[in-house]
Amino acid sequence: MLKDQFGRIHDYLRISLTDRCNYKCLYCLPQPEHLDDSIKGDCNSHGSDQMSTSEIISLAKIFICEGVKKIRITGGEPLVRKDASMIIRELGMTGTKLVLTTNGSRIHHFMDVFKEAGINSINVSLDTLNRDLFHKLTQRDDFIQVKNNIQLLLDHNFHVKINMVVMNGYNENELADFVEWTKEEPVHVRFIEFMPFPGNKWQPDRVIHAGEMLEIIARTHSEIIKLEDGVHDTTKKFQIKNYNGTFSIITTMSEPFCGGCNRLRLTSDGKMRNCLFSKTETDLLSALRSGEDVSLLIRSCLAGKHFQLGGNSGVSWGLEETSSHRRSMMGIGG
Ligand code: 5AD
Repeated sequence: MLKDQFGRIHDYLRISLTDRCNYKCLYCLPQPEHLDDSIKGDCNSHGSDQMSTSEIISLAKIFICEGVKKIRITGGEPLVRKDASMIIRELGMTGTKLVLTTNGSRIHHFMDVFKEAGINSINVSLDTLNRDLFHKLTQRDDFIQVKNNIQLLLDHNFHVKINMVVMNGYNENELADFVEWTKEEPVHVRFIEFMPFPGNKWQPDRVIHAGEMLEIIARTHSEIIKLEDGVHDTTKKFQIKNYNGTFSIITTMSEPFCGGCNRLRLTSDGKMRNCLFSKTETDLLSALRSGEDVSLLIRSCLAGKHFQLGGNSGVSWGLEETSSHRRSMMGIGG
């Protein structure tokens, strides 16, 4: 069992398949080496610094032996990796609960793979319901494709969560529209407070805090019901009376939810991070390649986990660039 010094049991691992993405979302703003204009479909460019399929499976199995019960596949955009299908299928065979976060652009190529791997819950990032703004935010005119793919998941009875990063001046006027989407469709919209990462042009006045979001939603929806949150939840969950879906708010900025954290992260180059905002990371891939004891490294990485926000504090915690291990969201996998 993977327990940290605060008694938190860690049984949830997020594995990034690639640091590449076919979108260039304003808030994610990858480092130049991750920008790839040529990515329209499959991504071929995987150097030896990246985990291979078999290395991903080997590391996942070690984590599972140590007590991990749920794995989330992330990126970059995980579905642009050329061997994504094979990795997803093989992770499915480990028997652990498997889920995935995607930008939605390539879901239609993977429906059979998801089913084969036993995936029944998928998070799709979608920050606007306006095609022009979608194009502006992502640099790709893909809104219709993404919206159709979300519908495809719903039609096939997947549990679908929508991640919407709320940015003042861009999409805060769409909160009510997203909530209205939950009326007929059983979608679970998650409004995320805009977080600072090196290079993502974050500014305090671009953040809309949870309280303000609720105020905005209450202007059009008076019957907001508070739902119960689980101990590991990163969200505060709500529902409009008699609506099929739910909405929730991820309050990293206004009210960090680190107390119940059960998450570990593995980057696509095989580095373990004990927190999204961690200033250090542990190189599991090199250890695996040289035959070292990876379990021991996993446990010692977890032992160094801070109670909150990777040990950062103050309003500018996410912007500190003092450590070479600070990565963009793209390089961590959310
Ligand atoms: N602030 C808040 N959320 C972010 N995401 C990516 N970058 C940021 C940011 N700066 C979200 C994406 C994705 C999820 C894993 O994290 O929308 O859905």
